[in-house]
Amino acid sequence: MELSRRTVIAGAAAGVTAAAVAGTAHATGGRKPVKTLFGKLADGTKVHSWSLENGGTRMRVLSYGGIVQSLEVPDRRGRHANVSLGFDDLADYVASSPYFGALIGRYGNRIDKGRFTLDGTDHQLSVNDGENSLHGGARGFDKRVWDVEPFTAGPDVGLRLYHTSVDGEMGYPGTLRATVTYTLTRDGDWRIDYEATTDRATVVNLTSHVYWNLAGEGSGGIEDHELTIAASRYTPTDAGLIPTGELAPVAGTPFDFRRAKPIGRDIRAAHPQLITAQGFDHNWVLDKGITDRPEHVATLRDPSSGRTLRIATNEPGLQFYSGNFLDGTLTGTGGRVYRQGDGLCLETQHFPDSPNQPSFPSTVLRPGETYRTTTVHSFGS
Ligand code: BGC
Repeated sequence: MELSRRTVIAGAAAGVTAAAVAGTAHATGGRKPVKTLFGKLADGTKVHSWSLENGGTRMRVLSYGGIVQSLEVPDRRGRHANVSLGFDDLADYVASSPYFGALIGRYGNRIDKGRFTLDGTDHQLSVNDGENSLHGGARGFDKRVWDVEPFTAGPDVGLRLYHTSVDGEMGYPGTLRATVTYTLTRDGDWRIDYEATTDRATVVNLTSHVYWNLAGEGSGGIEDHELTIAASRYTPTDAGLIPTGELAPVAGTPFDFRRAKPIGRDIRAAHPQLITAQGFDHNWVLDKGITDRPEHVATLRDPSSGRTLRIATNEPGLQFYSGNFLDGTLTGTGGRVYRQGDGLCLETQHFPDSPNQPSFPSTVLRPGETYRTTTVHSFGS
């Protein structure tokens, strides 16, 4: 892979071995993830940080929320930077995180008024975004302490994260047993496998909420990043950012990312959908639909550093959120303040509010079934 090749070149130039630069010994497989204490919650629960490294990618993951606290990849000259927004302290994650790096569940994005009906029974969810339920409610998967198990598998390293969400948690029916596996491959790809089972019919839509800035977190805005999304349609929303149910064509609109386009090019277009959301905050209907295996759906590129991120998924949707609600009140890992558009999210998912939208792909999970989705992030430069 391109990244590994560059790592070898950078290592050779510096007179050290590629394995030392990449932090792995490929012949013997990756190194086991290292655990350290990150902090304690108010009730004394310990939160750990896990360091992983493989194929030139380094990441730190917290047991709290499965949060990717940092993710470092090299630029075209082999220089690493943390490309994911986050905090230094646990207290900041608890008090004021807009889901930086977190696992999202039970339901990614919004459910209208936090209500839905399943098999004739009405359910009222925790409402935490105006009148709607966002990202699983007031205490979603991003605010749970996960059980974490490290593993090495051949050349790969990773973590298995477990959370059992009790029946009725945040209003959702059924005991949901979720396992999320983070794998760093020998090529430096970050793969996420989500799995869940339930003992009662429920709805589920898990995703990851990393805010990317491929020039490095805290380095400024992402308007120069070029984005490609393989989608001819998107789901327009109402004033509360709930999909209207329409699948609108992107052609001739600022939502057309079928060819690489700088994010800033159209972000100030006087399009009603952009005005409502204060930028991009929409679900793209991926042309490939639901697939058995992850397929490439989006590419993000920072021309200044040369870093690229390619995303493959088997999910039918992608939420592109351009960091519109970052407002200069949060100070990130590097000690710099995050302002509007300083990071962007690319959340692979089923569509928002699917439980209330019969024409959208179903998010219902029944006893005996296993929810399984996969997203792969591949880095290059
Ligand atoms: C949503 C935004 C929301 C953000 C939370 C995104 O996934 O689409 O509307 O504000 O998460 O920070």
